[in-house]
Amino acid sequence: MPLACRLLEFAAIPAALAIQEVPSSAPESGEVVLSMLAASVNPADLNVIEGTYGELPPLPSTIGNEGCGIISQIGSSVEGFTIGTPAIVLRAGTWTTEMRVSADDVIPLPVGIDPWQAAMLTVNPATAWRMMHDFTQLKSGDWIVQNAANSGVGRAVIQLAKALGFRTLNVVRRPELIDELQGIGADVVVLEDVDLRTEAVRLCGGEQPRLALNAVGGSSALNIANALAPGFPHVTYGAMGRQPLKIPNGLLIFKNISFRGFWLRRWREGASRQDIHDTYRVLSEFLVSGVLKTPVHRVFPLTQALEAVQEAALAGRTGKVLLDLVSCKTH
Ligand SMILES: NC(=O)c1ccc[n+]([C@@H]2O[C@H](COP(=O)([O-])OP(=O)(O)OC[C@H]3O[C@@H](n4cnc5c(N)ncnc54)[C@H](OP(=O)(O)O)[C@@H]3O)[C@@H](O)[C@H]2O)c1
Repeated sequence: MPLACRLLEFAAIPAALAIQEVPSSAPESGEVVLSMLAASVNPADLNVIEGTYGELPPLPSTIGNEGCGIISQIGSSVEGFTIGTPAIVLRAGTWTTEMRVSADDVIPLPVGIDPWQAAMLTVNPATAWRMMHDFTQLKSGDWIVQNAANSGVGRAVIQLAKALGFRTLNVVRRPELIDELQGIGADVVVLEDVDLRTEAVRLCGGEQPRLALNAVGGSSALNIANALAPGFPHVTYGAMGRQPLKIPNGLLIFKNISFRGFWLRRWREGASRQDIHDTYRVLSEFLVSGVLKTPVHRVFPLTQALEAVQEAALAGRTGKVLLDLVSCKTH
């Protein structure tokens, strides 16, 4: 029987999780079954566990917002899928050894793709990619300013920006990250206490960023807003600092900065199937070519999902916490 990590109630971490056997069932028409390989533990998963996320599942529920598997069964009237193909799934409930889903929610990937990296492709690189394309038209050489630059999204922004010819001004909270992020292509990396209102133009060689990406909130969000060129967008997609953003009137009146928000789930709901596939095709090519690479902090078997969640909630991680969905399979 497949195993799944079920959330029993919304509660602070340590979470109310249980590893349970769940029934296996053959795919119905239009569905496929994935034999799951790996899944990531993201801040959004912690927010779901705590009951603070933007959309919550009915309980009890198998949780997990992204993961990678192998297509193991194909239902009738499904075309274009091959058994044995690796794939990511655009549906919640990935912390399980087996998933039965609509074929519309499955994106096949190139054979041979690294399943660990693929398990981190759905959410963060797609968020980075969409934010870099959907709010303003950047041209080669333009600057992007971002905080939480060491996050999964932040690193994807750095790597994709490099590949596209954009430049990045990155804010981090730990000095040991400066060299590391420069090593993956960051143009400039500064600590949170650098005042970007006075320093951004110098740091960007006389220019001002044309896109600000905020995953922190509070004073950090304001700091990157102050770096922006007049008329350009500031996009909030995360709230790691759990502080609201206070916007000084002058940023609206005199600089005409537009304050926007981004949620990948909302983008997927509004995007055409073609747009979704195109986005993940480009990103999987970047993954295969090595442009996109996310460091892994630690891997836990699914049976230790609770420990994985606790580890993911700690500060100072060196990368993502992943769940190995293969090692606990019973055959
Ligand atoms: N809106 C969307 O569709 C969407 C999609 C993806 C992600 N997100 C959000 O984006 C954020 C980042 O996600 P992720 O998966 O990329 O993160 P991650 O890889 O787990 O990394 C978390 C990052 O947040 C930083 N951080 C944590 N607490 C902080 C604080 N109090 N002040 C400043 N920085 C802090 C960490 O800094 P250190 O490196 O120093 O530890 C780390 O860089 C989360 O809020 C997540 O929910 C939103």
